[in-house]
Formats: sequence, structure tokens, C-alpha cells
Amino acid sequence: MRILSGIQPSGSLHIGNYFGMMKPMIEYQEVDELYCFIVNYHAMTSVTDGKQLAKGTVDAAMDFLALGLDPDQAIFWVQSDVPEVAELTWILSNVTPVGLLLRSHSYKDKIAQGLSPNHGLLSYPVLMAADILLYQSERVPVGQDQQQHLEIARDIAIKFNHFFGETFVIPEAEINPNIPTVLGLDGRKMSKSYDNTIEIFTAEESLRKKIAGIVTDSTPVSEPKDPDKCNLFAIISLFLSEDEKTDLAERYRRGGLKYSEVKNELFGGIWEFFGPAREKRKQLEQAPDHVREVLQAGAEKARAKALPTLELAKERVGLVY
Ligand code: ADP
Ligand code: TRP
Repeated sequence: MRILSGIQPSGSLHIGNYFGMMKPMIEYQEVDELYCFIVNYHAMTSVTDGKQLAKGTVDAAMDFLALGLDPDQAIFWVQSDVPEVAELTWILSNVTPVGLLLRSHSYKDKIAQGLSPNHGLLSYPVLMAADILLYQSERVPVGQDQQQHLEIARDIAIKFNHFFGETFVIPEAEINPNIPTVLGLDGRKMSKSYDNTIEIFTAEESLRKKIAGIVTDSTPVSEPKDPDKCNLFAIISLFLSEDEKTDLAERYRRGGLKYSEVKNELFGGIWEFFGPAREKRKQLEQAPDHVREVLQAGAEKARAKALPTLELAKERVGLVY
């Protein structure tokens, strides 16, 4: 099965990104044909500082490699290193109804958040369709929030095939109900847009500070507490075995539990869980040129896969003469 997914380098990656996207992707590389990329063209719709975008791109690549993405098993690259995707975006634009784009929840949400309603933001889903169709992807694992983008990609592919003849594989969204939505410091979904994140590779002191900031209720220490209503419990559970979770839930219900104890345990859990990746990341930071070489080699492999599809699409629409 050919699986493809991308992540925007628009801020430090957090444990929601890890459990929701990166970990499942890293697991796919063992059994599937995995295409995994850093979508820096997409991030341009929200990051307007060029230096920040460039740094974010290398950082996201180092994060993925440190966490176990193996460039020998997966095709791993930076979106703009295969600029042909922009060419396909233009081709697909001509079968994309503007009404479809104007109905995008993500477009409306971003405008509501104050982003300027420019053409990049409106055509974001066309670029995403090009990402997916250029590599003839069969499955696209995404979070719930990306489901509509996948529908748009399917609509565009179906329309293109109908007008110009069979060209693209129709992709399927894969929304795995077993993948948790990780909650943030304030109990809402963890997201950089809510500023409630716990970064994967933050320094020790700032990790402690973040954890201290997890919102808990004001039940007195002696009283029993409900683990199922506790945001801190939800977060620490990501790092516990089933038995450990049951024990902690029991401590909540018994009374006498201090949230500060659980916060200390959470700090220890996160620090240990990401320990080996932290070491690997330090090594990668010492070798940025090696990281760039890995990405270049990935882009070459990706381009080799992309070119035949792009050629076919160009032929179909009459750009080959
Ligand atoms: P953010 O909300 O921080 O901007 P993105 O929207 O860039 O994150 O998400 C990148 C990837 O990480 C997506 O595949 C998304 O489904 C996943 N993801 C983001 N936040 C969470 C979360 N809180 N829980 C689970 N998965 C998440
Ligand atoms: N829009 C996706 C997100 O914000 C990122 C993305 C861009 C993507 N191109 C993609 C995801 C192609 C899957 C496939 O999470």
C-alpha cells in the first residue's frame, strides 16, 4: 500500500503531533511504501518570516529523523525540493471549482483567526491534492480536521479523470479511531494555534514549566478525584502501560493525591520516553549538512516517482506537443 502524509514546519512539533501523526507514520515505514514530507509550501500560508520557515523546515526534518523515521525505508523529503508539485497544482486548478474552495472549513477558520484571505490560503487544498495525486497515493492518514481536504483531493482527481481520461489514483483518507486526540495544557485539543502545547524536544526547565502550567481543578488533596475528567491524567496516560494507568486511576479515586506529584511523574515520563530521540537529535544538530543530504536524496527519489505521473497529466491536458 502506498501511504503518503505531510506535516507543516510552522512551529515546534509537540506531543500531539507525535502521537497523532509522527508515531503512526514511523510505524507505517515497516510494512508499507511510505512517502513522508515536510510541507513548506503549505506553511507559507501562515509563516511569513523566511528565516523562520527555513529553520522550521530543518527542525521538523531533524525531529522526524530523531524520532525514528528511516530514510532508507521511507521516502522522506521537503515539498519544495520537488517543485513539480506546483506545476501540477496549476494543472489541477483548472478543474477545481472556486465554490469548493470557498466552502473549506479550514479556509474559513484561518480567516476567522486573522490570516489574510489571499490566493495561497484559498488554493491550499489544490496544492494538497497535487501532493497526493502526484505520487499516486492510495492512503492518506490524516486527523479528522483534514478530512474535508481529502474529499476535495478526491473530487479533483475524479473530475480530472472524467475530463481527460484515467490519470490519477483516487486516494482514500485513513482516519484511525485508535489514534488519540492529545489534549493540551488547558484541556482543549493540543494545538500550536491555541498556545497550549508541550513540545517534544524542549529543554528540561521549559518542559517543567509547561507541565506546571497544566490546568487542574481545585479538589482538595484529601478528596477523591475523577481521572476521567482530568486533563493531566489524559496526558500522562500517553506514557503509561495499561497497568500503570489502572494504578494511577486508583490513586486518584482513593483521595490524598496531589496533582503536583502527578506532574512530577509526567515530567519523568516524558523526559525518559523521548530520551533516546533527544540524544539522536543532538547528534543531528551537529551535522546539519548530513540532514540536508538526506533530504536531497529523498527529494531525488520522490521526483523519480513523480515525473511519470506529471508527464501523463501534461500529455492529457495538451502540454506535450
Ligand atoms: P497544530 O494543530 O498544532 O497546528 P497541525 O494542524 O499542523 O498541528 O497538525 C499536524 C499533524 O499532527 C496532523 O496530522 C494532525 O492530525 C496531528 N495533530 C495535531 N494536533 C494533534 C493532537 N492534539 N492530537 C492528535 N494529533 C494531532
Ligand atoms: N494540510 C495538512 C495539515 O495541515 C498537511 C499536508 C499538506 C498534507 N499536504 C499533505 C497531509 C498531503 C497529507 C497529505 O496537517
